[in-house]
Formats: sequence, structure tokens, C-alpha cells
Amino acid sequence: MTQTSVPTMTAAARAVGLTKTYGKGATEVHALRGVDLEIRRGAFTAIMGPSGSGKSTLMHCLAGLDRPTSGQVMVAGQPLENLDDDQLTVFRRENVGFVFQAFNLLPMLTAGQNIQLPLELAGKRVTDETRARAQMIADTLGIGKRLGHKPSELSGGQQQRVAIARALVTQPAILFADEPTGNLDSETSAEVLDHLRRSVRELGQTVVMVTHEASAAAYADEIVTVKDGHIEGVTR
Ligand SMILES: Nc1ncnc2c1ncn2[C@@H]1O[C@H](COP(=O)(O)OP(=O)(O)OP(=O)(O)O)[C@@H](O)[C@H]1O
Ligand SMILES: [Mg+2]
Repeated sequence: MTQTSVPTMTAAARAVGLTKTYGKGATEVHALRGVDLEIRRGAFTAIMGPSGSGKSTLMHCLAGLDRPTSGQVMVAGQPLENLDDDQLTVFRRENVGFVFQAFNLLPMLTAGQNIQLPLELAGKRVTDETRARAQMIADTLGIGKRLGHKPSELSGGQQQRVAIARALVTQPAILFADEPTGNLDSETSAEVLDHLRRSVRELGQTVVMVTHEASAAAYADEIVTVKDGHIEGVTR
């Protein structure tokens, strides 16, 4: 994989002139209309904005889950446009963690097995070292004692924390979370946000989170506001 040098190495991810158009002709939707954005490394960034403003589309383009119509995305110094689909899959596995609103845990596996899964998918052997790392992340997230349980035996907040641990275990350059607390009650939300915050502080993780709620965004270092496919503002 070619690594091209980038001007700002402090950015964990950056978008330049990003547009995304869905459909054609009468059904055309301009989800992103020219977005320039830099995601600061080691920071907790929240993306806010009304429903349909383009938050998920932006996050999917930044995470390499979707291709923009035009413009560039760079993650960890790698321009994603230079990668074909197979290379992009490998790049994502090694550099990007993603937490979905619906936890997407595998019900047949224990919490511990769910967390180790990305390592196995990446063809990495489960060693004492990887096991210790998984345990350390699980401990940081407060689920270290629940690793032998199946998702159905865990609370919503615990399941979401397993999903976060699973996204962190490969030490991704950047962790994306699309409304990770959308399905949780306020107490459990606070718990999950607290742990995301701690992964930034204690593990030096870069986190980007989409949220509707100002109370959730309050945990972030920077708040990016999206409106009608544009960046309306960035607040520190
Ligand atoms: N696959 C798709 N095909 C067509 N239009 C789409 C598709 N995905 C999203 N859109 C449209 O693009 C626009 C932006 O959608 P997006 O999902 O990014 O919004 P959002 O800000 O995440 O909204 P929400 O807060 O409701 O999740 C919307 O008008 C949506 O209808
Ligand atoms: Mg969305």
C-alpha cells in the first residue's frame, strides 16, 4: 500500500471538497455539498445537525464505508481514493473502528469472543498479548468481568461498550460512532459517553461521534455542526 505524505500530520482524518450525491435526475439528493474538515488526532469530535443534514453520509465517507461523489478523504495520511475496494477493506480493518447505533454484536459469541473477532478477521493470531490488550480495553470500559457472557445476558449499555471494545481492539487510528447512545436510556448513555471520553484520555484514541443530543456532544472536545450538506461551524 502506498503511503503518500500529507501536509498536516496532526489530522487523524481530513476531507477536502467532499460531495456526495445519491440518485440521478428528479430523485437526486445532494447529501454533501462540498465539505472541508479536519479531524484532530487524539481528540473527541462530535458531529451534530438536524436529521437528513448528511451526518451519517459524512461519517461513512470519512470511514471509507462509502465513496464520495467528488473530493478527497485522507485517513492516517492515506488518500482513500487511491485504494481499490479490496485494499480499502484491508485498510479499514487495520485503521478504522466503527460503532453502529444498533450494536451489531454476534449473539452466539461471548462478549470476549466478539471483542477478539476483528483480530481474527484481520488474520492476526490470538496471543497472550492480544488477549491482554482486549482485557485492558474491556477493563477500561468497565466490562472486564463480563467477557464470558453472551450479548443477551448483558444490559444495553454493556452491549454498546462491548461494541466499542470490539472497535478499539485493533488499535484503529480513528474510531467512528454513529449515534452510539441512540438506543440507550440517559443513565446508560452517560456511562457509554464517559467510557468513550476515557478512551480518548487514557488510550489516546481519536473518536468521532455523530449525535442528536447536546448533552452527548458536551463530552466532546470539538463540535462540528452540519446543515444541508455543509459544515456550518466548528466549536472547540
Ligand atoms: N442510500 C441513499 N440513497 C438515497 N438517499 C440517501 C441515501 N442515504 C442517505 N440519503 C439522503 O441523504 C441525505 C443525508 O442523509 P444522512 O443519512 O447522511 O443524514 P443524517 O444527518 O445522518 O440524518 P439522521 O440524523 O436522520 O440520521 C438525506 O436526505 C437522506 O435521505
Ligand atoms: Mg444518520
